[in-house]
Amino acid sequence: VELLKEKIRLEGKVLSDMVLKVDSFINHQVDPVLVMEIGKAFAKAFEDEHITKVLTIESSGIQFAMGTALALGVPFVYAKKKKAITQSSDLYSASVESFTRNETYQITLSKQFLTPNDRVLIVDDFLATGAALVGLIGMIRESGAALAGAGIVIEKSFQEGRKLIEDAGVRICSLARIASMSPGEIHFIEELKTSSVK
Ligand code: G4P
Repeated sequence: VELLKEKIRLEGKVLSDMVLKVDSFINHQVDPVLVMEIGKAFAKAFEDEHITKVLTIESSGIQFAMGTALALGVPFVYAKKKKAITQSSDLYSASVESFTRNETYQITLSKQFLTPNDRVLIVDDFLATGAALVGLIGMIRESGAALAGAGIVIEKSFQEGRKLIEDAGVRICSLARIASMSPGEIHFIEELKTSSVK
């Protein structure tokens, strides 16, 4: 998805060697055209997998799960970070350490929305430490559903997440893979070319 890399180059702000701020089109304000393109790209990458459900985690994964689910013609479901009183007590849960918020939280998902009949595609905005994905994978395994793979919008390939998830036997499709970054520049993996950013 060329538009994604273009947006990262033009609007992304590298806050440190570890953190990329993309608040103007992913994490705060959202670009719906980009979201739908990303959804179509994930749907195409996993078109032969007979996906029945897209799974993500709130909050920034939701729009990409929506775009992907719409393109695949299936529902999406998201793990919640705070339990709602409307949620049933029959839940899958996992504890996840947040990379950007520096806290551990419990994610939950009603058991009725993930069953052994499902073939699941995970979608998320960032792959960093892989903590959120590990939590979601645990829930899928517990449910008896099949896991087809993970669609990631931005992968920070220099962090441990990719290896962790691949070692768990999960196929990953990342649309933008960042090899390294520092304030002022980003190196993407495929092209190994330096891009100037703000
Ligand atoms: P993950 O690799 O499995 O996603 O887990 P990790 O614990 O590493 O990351 C969890 C959170 O940190 C996610 O959001 C993810 O989007 C965010 N994140 C990781 N690296 C970066 C980064 O470089 N820039 C930005 N902007 N976010 C990053 P979250 O804390 O759950 O927040 P949200 O989804 O509610 O916005």
